[in-house]
Amino acid sequence: MNLLINPGVLESSFLPRLLPYREEEHKYIAECIKPLLLKRNGRNILITGSPGIGKTACVKFIFRKMIEENVGNYLTIYINCWKHDTNNKIIYYVAEQIGIRTNERYPEELIDIIIKKLNTYEGVVFAFDEVDRLHDWNFIYRILEDIKYKSIILITNTSENIIRLDERLLSRLLLERIEFKKYNFEEIRGILREREFMAFKPNSFEYEAFEEIVRKTYEIGDLRVGLFLLKNSAENAENRNSEKIEMCDVLKAIERIKDIYHK
Ligand SMILES: Nc1ncnc2c1ncn2[C@@H]1O[C@H](COP(=O)(O)OP(=O)(O)OP(=O)(O)O)[C@@H](O)[C@H]1O
Ligand SMILES: [Mg+2]
Repeated sequence: MNLLINPGVLESSFLPRLLPYREEEHKYIAECIKPLLLKRNGRNILITGSPGIGKTACVKFIFRKMIEENVGNYLTIYINCWKHDTNNKIIYYVAEQIGIRTNERYPEELIDIIIKKLNTYEGVVFAFDEVDRLHDWNFIYRILEDIKYKSIILITNTSENIIRLDERLLSRLLLERIEFKKYNFEEIRGILREREFMAFKPNSFEYEAFEEIVRKTYEIGDLRVGLFLLKNSAENAENRNSEKIEMCDVLKAIERIKDIYHK
C-alpha cells in the first residue's frame, strides 16, 4: 500500500511555495535589502533562533522571490558555512556559482576576479548560513571593503561565536539582530497539514495519529522532527500493508528518535 506519493516534499531542503507565519520576518529582511534597489548599501543582519524553525527557509524564500520577480541586475549568493568553512573554500564555491573558471587559479587571484565581477551588478545580497561554523572571516571582510552595494545576512542557531567576532569586523558590519521565535502549536499544525496534503494520498492519517505528530513536534520545537515523523510513520504503516497511518505507526516512529531528543 503506497501512502506516501510525493516524498520529496518531506525533505528538509524542500522549499514550499508559501511560507506562512514568517510574514513579519520576511518583511523585515526584505526592508533591509531594499536600499540596494535605490543604489545604496543595504543593511546587514544577524538571524538567530533555535534549529528547525524556518531561518534558512525564510532567506531562501526571499532569494527565490527576488530571482522570480526579476527585480533588476541584482545577485543573491547563498553560502552554507558548514560546507564552506574556510576562506579558500568560499572563494572556489562563489567563483563557481558566478561562472568563473577556477582551475589553475590561486585563491588570491580568484578573489580579485570575483570582486570585479560582483561589482558589475547593481547590488549583491549575501547569506552566510550556519555562520558559527565559519573558521575565518576574510571573505566577509573583503566583500565589506570592496563590494560597492551589498547586504549581508548571517544566520546561526547560536549567537556565541558571532559575539566573539573581531571588533573591526563587527564595527564594519553594524549587524541588526532578528530573532526567530519558535512556532506555536497551531502554526506547527498548519505547516505539517500543508506538507501532509502535498505528500500523502488523501485521508492517509487517522486524526489522532496526525495530532500526535503535531504534539511531539511542538514539544521538541523543530519542524524537521515533524517531517521525519510524517515520513517514518507512513513507512511503518506501509510495511504492515495498512491503508491508514495509525497511532501505533506514529508511536513507533517517535520511539526511533527518543534517544536523540531525550523527551
Ligand atoms: N513557515 C513555514 N512553512 C512551511 N515550511 C516551513 C516553515 N518554516 C520552516 N519550514 C520547513 O521546516 C524545515 C526546517 O526549516 P529550516 O531549514 O529553515 O530551519 P532552520 O531554522 O534554518 O534550522 P537550523 O538552525 O537547524 O538550520 C524546512 O523543511 C522548511 O521548509
Ligand atoms: Mg538552517
